Formats: sequence, structure tokens, C-alpha cells
Amino acid sequence: MRAYILFSALMVYFQTESVMFCDICDCQEISEPLTGVVVNCSFHERVLEMNPILPDASITLDLSKSNLTSIQPVSIFQSESLVELLLNRNFLKEINLLSFNLPELKQLDLSENELTHINPDSFNGFTKLEYLNLASNKFTVTSQLNFNSLVNLKEIILDNNNIGDEIETRSLFDEQGYGLPLNIQSISISGVNLDNLNLEYFKPVDNTLRKLVISNNNLNIIVKLPQRLEYLDYSNNPINKITTEELEPLVYLKELKLNGLDVEEISKNVFATLMLTNLELKYNKKLKEFSNLSFGRQLLSDTYDFYLENLSLKGSNLSTLDESLSVLFVKVKRLDLQQNPWVCDCRLAWLRKLPIAPDLIDNFRCSSPDNLFDRRIFDLAEEDFVCDTSSWEESQFGISAGHVLYLLLALVTILYLSLYNTTPKDNLRQK
Ligand SMILES: *[C@@H]1O[C@H](CO)[C@@H](O)[C@H](O)[C@H]1NC(C)=O
Ligand SMILES: *[C@@H]1O[C@H](CO)[C@@H](O)[C@H](O)[C@H]1NC(C)=O
Ligand SMILES: *[C@@H]1O[C@H](CO)[C@@H](O)[C@H](O)[C@H]1NC(C)=O
Ligand SMILES: *[C@@H]1O[C@H](CO)[C@@H](O)[C@H](O)[C@H]1NC(C)=O
Ligand SMILES: *[C@@H]1O[C@H](CO)[C@@H](O)[C@H](O)[C@H]1NC(C)=O
Repeated sequence: MRAYILFSALMVYFQTESVMFCDICDCQEISEPLTGVVVNCSFHERVLEMNPILPDASITLDLSKSNLTSIQPVSIFQSESLVELLLNRNFLKEINLLSFNLPELKQLDLSENELTHINPDSFNGFTKLEYLNLASNKFTVTSQLNFNSLVNLKEIILDNNNIGDEIETRSLFDEQGYGLPLNIQSISISGVNLDNLNLEYFKPVDNTLRKLVISNNNLNIIVKLPQRLEYLDYSNNPINKITTEELEPLVYLKELKLNGLDVEEISKNVFATLMLTNLELKYNKKLKEFSNLSFGRQLLSDTYDFYLENLSLKGSNLSTLDESLSVLFVKVKRLDLQQNPWVCDCRLAWLRKLPIAPDLIDNFRCSSPDNLFDRRIFDLAEEDFVCDTSSWEESQFGISAGHVLYLLLALVTILYLSLYNTTPKDNLRQK
């Protein structure tokens, strides 16, 4: 009760005396990378109700996680200096951007709200916008999103909206479609329910797109990928085969994520033309064959052009790896081979010599033979990695027996020849 009276009193006070954002929120003057004030109202509930005034030199306004259900009053969103506006993680059902006047705005985060529509015209005043995050809202095929006026947009995030069907038919790059500018550098369409994409879908941005996130969809093909990509995430799609041709053109690619696919095999040369620094192949539960030639044959003899810093094969179905890979694997700074059904026999003894980070060894364990089941590979000694002893000894014995036999045969032959050779001579001499 007392709190309520206090609150009402405050409201009356605020209605008569104007209040500054910095009286309520956390304000910080910064000079890097821009000079100005960062106004942080994150986790401040009901701050807009007080109709606070933005400081003149505001560059960032953070209103995230503030339980906002509407943007009222809009007079707050008038600023000649604001560059970044964060409205993520609220409960906004609609937003009238038309009434905003933020000509310098470069970054707008509206993710994790409940938006269903945004009027295409409402972006008209945002010609400088470079980054737009609309992830995890309630956009659907009826939303008809269009970004034609965002001519300087570099990055868009549309994750976790049910718009896949629409992206398939209304192109992201067509003016009648989503109207993204053709010099856009980064697109994220993870978890949007894409079932099928035209193989040539990304052709309009073939030379410009640097980053593509298309994970968590239902794609069973790898579309033709823009050749300037530096970052690609195609994880969690029902892809059952990766061919050399699909990745070959991506010579600028640095980071590749192919987690949670349906592939059974990584075949030779798949990564041969790439110069990756980061490769994730996690939770490919069916993956049981990783070719020692996946990075190509040449790298195995000259590792100079092998730049991989992080490689994860965690959570797959690998039971063995060829030792020829060791020249590459020793160069990887963070190698994760955990949660695979490793068969700890003589073929895998080399794994113990890899410089694996201490936090990546606990689940690096044997699955067989029975006596080593669930033992940590780095707790074992070289002698523990034995190959099937009976057949091994038999073949050892076979070889040595063969040698003895061969020697005996040779001896007999020499003896016989010397006898045969001398006898006729002796006979002759005797004649
Ligand atoms: C605002 O503060 C929260 C912590 O209270 C922090 O997580 C967030 O990064 C800050 N926002 C900005 C823009 O600095
Ligand atoms: C937002 O509302 C929830 C419950 O509805 C509450 O637990 C939370 O503290 C509120 N957040 C803020 C920043 O007030
Ligand atoms: C490798 O992984 C570490 C830790 O996850 C990360 O900090 C680093 O940036 C990664 N390196 C590359 C080249 O991606
Ligand atoms: C993993 O491989 C084994 C044989 O090596 C096979 O029996 C099993 O079905 C595979 N698991 C999956 C999920 O494909
Ligand atoms: C690759 O592995 C296979 C099977 O283990 C082996 O026969 C072959 O010699 C290896 N190739 C190279 C180049 O080491």
C-alpha cells in the first residue's frame, strides 16, 4: 500500500517535472568506438511510463528485458544521435516505427518479442540501418515483410519465425519479396521451417554474402552456396550426403558448422580446397567414417596450409580414425573427439599422443573392447591398445614359420646344386 502511494506520488511528480533517463537508468559516457552516452535501462520495468528525456548525445538506448508491452509515448524515440536501439526480450505485439525519428540509427534489435507485422513503409526513415534483428517473434507467411528501403542493411536475423514457406516463394532478394539489398553481407534464417530451396536461390548475392546461417530447417540438399562466404552454418538439416562439389568453391570460408546432419560418411577431398580455421561436425549421430583424405592427400605430406584451430567431431558414431590424420590433428588447438564409440585397439594408440585440451578429455572414452569400456583414453597406457591377440600371434607365427621354411628350402637347394655341380665335373675329371 505504502509502495503504491509512493509510486503514485512519483508519477504525479514525474508528470509535472520532466525526468531524465539518466535519473532512472544507468548512463555511461564512452568514447570508443563512438563518443556519446550509453543509456542502459535493461531490466528496468515501466521506465517509459515516466516519459523520460534522452540525453542529447545518446548513442545507445538499451530497453531490453524491461517487460515492455507497447512503445508509448513515442516522443522518446526522437534523436539525432542515437545509433543503437535495443528493444529485445520484451512483450511487444506491435511497433509503429513510422512515428520514430532516428535518422542516425544503425542497429535495431527487436528480437524475442511478439511482433506479427511490420508495415514496409515504416522503415522509410531508417536509411542508415545496418543491423536488424527480428529473431524469435511471431512473423508468419502472412506478415509480408519487406525491407526495400533499408538500402544500407548489412546484416539481418530472421531466426525462429515461421516464414520458411514464404522465403521459398517470395525471394529474399526480390523487390516484391523481402527486398534485401544485394550488397547484404550476413543473413540468418535459422529455424524458419524451410523445406525446400531452389538450388540457385542465393545467386543474387553470389559475390557479396559473407555469412549465412541456415541451420535448424528441413533442407535435405545443400543449395549452391555464395562463393565469397566466410562463415556457413548448415547444421541440423536432414542432409545425408556432402559432396566435394558443394563446398569446393568456398575458398574464403573460415568457419563451417555441419552439426546434427544425417551423414554417414565424410568422404575424401570434401574439405580439400577450403582453408578453414573452425570446423564443427558435432552430433552427426550416423557419422561412422571420417576419411583420412577428407582434407585432401596433399596436406598429409605438407601441413603448411592447414589452418584449422578448432575441430569438433563430438557426439558422432566414429569408432576409429586412421593414424595418417595425426600430422593434421596435432596442429589443432582445440580438438574435440568426445562421445564417440571408440574401439581402443592398436589402430587408435596414436590418439593418446594428441595434445588435447584438459577440458576436452573427460568424455573421450573407449566403447570397446569390453575390458576398456568407458575408460578415459588418456588414462590408458600404450600397451592397453592391443589388436585382436589370437589372430595377431597367429600371423606373427605364420611369418616366422614361413621364414624358417624358406631358409630350409634355400639351404637344401644350395646343397643340392653344389652336389649336382660338382658331381659332373668330378666325373669329367675322372674321365
Ligand atoms: C546493460 O546492462 C546489462 C546488465 O545489467 C548488460 O547485460 C547489457 O549488456 C548492458 N547493455 C549495454 C548496451 O551495454
Ligand atoms: C517482468 O515480469 C516478470 C513476471 O511477469 C517478473 O518476474 C520480472 O521481474 C519482470 N521484469 C522486470 C525487469 O521487472
Ligand atoms: C576456437 O574455439 C575457441 C573456444 O571455443 C574460440 O575462442 C576461438 O575463437 C576459436 N577459434 C577460431 C579460429 O574460430
Ligand atoms: C553406429 O554405428 C554402428 C555400427 O558401427 C551401427 O550399428 C549403429 O546403428 C550406428 N548408429 C547410428 C545412430 O547410426
Ligand atoms: C588412409 O587410410 C587407409 C585405410 O586406413 C590407408 O590404407 C591409407 O594408406 C591411408 N592413406 C594415407 C595417404 O595415409
